[in-house]
Amino acid sequence: MKKIAIFASGNGSNAENIYKFFANGNRVRVALVIYDRPGARVAERMAAYPDVKTLYIPKSVWAENPQEILDLLREEGIDMVVLAGFLRFVPQELTEAYAGRMLNIHPSLVPAYSGPGMYGDKIHQAVIAAGETKSGVTVHYVSDVVDGGEILMQEEVEVAADDTPESLAEKIHAVEYSLYPRAIVKALGRIESPSADNINEPMLPPAVEGITPPPLREPAEEWAETLGVSYDPEKVAVATGKYAGEGDDEDRTGTSEDIKDRSVNAMASGTGLNNRPPRPHVDEGMPPTYLVWAVVMTVLCCLPAGVVAIVFACQVSSKFYAGDMEGALRASERAQIWIIVSFVLGVLANTLSLPIMLLF
Ligand code: GRF
Repeated sequence: MKKIAIFASGNGSNAENIYKFFANGNRVRVALVIYDRPGARVAERMAAYPDVKTLYIPKSVWAENPQEILDLLREEGIDMVVLAGFLRFVPQELTEAYAGRMLNIHPSLVPAYSGPGMYGDKIHQAVIAAGETKSGVTVHYVSDVVDGGEILMQEEVEVAADDTPESLAEKIHAVEYSLYPRAIVKALGRIESPSADNINEPMLPPAVEGITPPPLREPAEEWAETLGVSYDPEKVAVATGKYAGEGDDEDRTGTSEDIKDRSVNAMASGTGLNNRPPRPHVDEGMPPTYLVWAVVMTVLCCLPAGVVAIVFACQVSSKFYAGDMEGALRASERAQIWIIVSFVLGVLANTLSLPIMLLF
């Protein structure tokens, strides 16, 4: 039995799809899902599968103590690490230890539209803006160069004249659900038979050697059948329409909030965090609500804009305590903006009202 760990940061539809692809087989299984952003949808999705250990590992651990993550992977007996919309540079300790056993999926025909800064909708926007007629999906090994590791499998997707970034993302996701599980099988086969070096030919694990692999564009369910793993296409059609604006990469610049709380040890030693919907830990800190300022601006400056600011200010804590850290941050920013709007309108109204009153 080969064990897979998935690293994800966002929506997690690929993570769930990979889990389902291998769920009922007995040769490969997803044993661990690690996410690095509180409130990531992937955690919610994986909560439905109690046989998978789902852990949140904060930025501080990735940055300062990657050895702990490596120890965890080893303790869990992980054979292969699979990145699926993972928003962070993988520390060198891990890429070295899992060289040839760590994969990433990128929603373009790498090397086109890849590398630092190319992630999520930015890719699809750039592809459409450039008038490309095809884009695609690439599964590659992870190296120290962003999106620069050896390409394992690639599949083209047509770009229609009327495609939007959202519709293109949807088509690309559909291909990903089929391509990634097959690429994982291929990479596992490669580990089993390192002497077979033609990676352009799909390789199957030894147990199914002798069976002719289907062509690369075969639907995933047929491929699964060949491997003897159960694959329910209905269940695998996950998350349609849910990924727009979410997903791909990344905190490759290392600039996102640092969440200083739980240690990997605390999570790995069964403190009950596994498989729970993500909830912010108090140490993560609630974003500022600006409620007092919102009230002051409502009273002193501009009532309508101030009320909008109050509404957003109130949303900060409700979203935070519901575990929606991103929503709380958004509400906090909006409250701040509306406070400024209220102030500016208040100043304008007062400045203009004086000459008008004098005129009449
Ligand atoms: C996918 O498009 C993948 O290619 C990219 O990030 C996206 C993740 O989507 N790396 P999801 O989170 O699996 O829905």
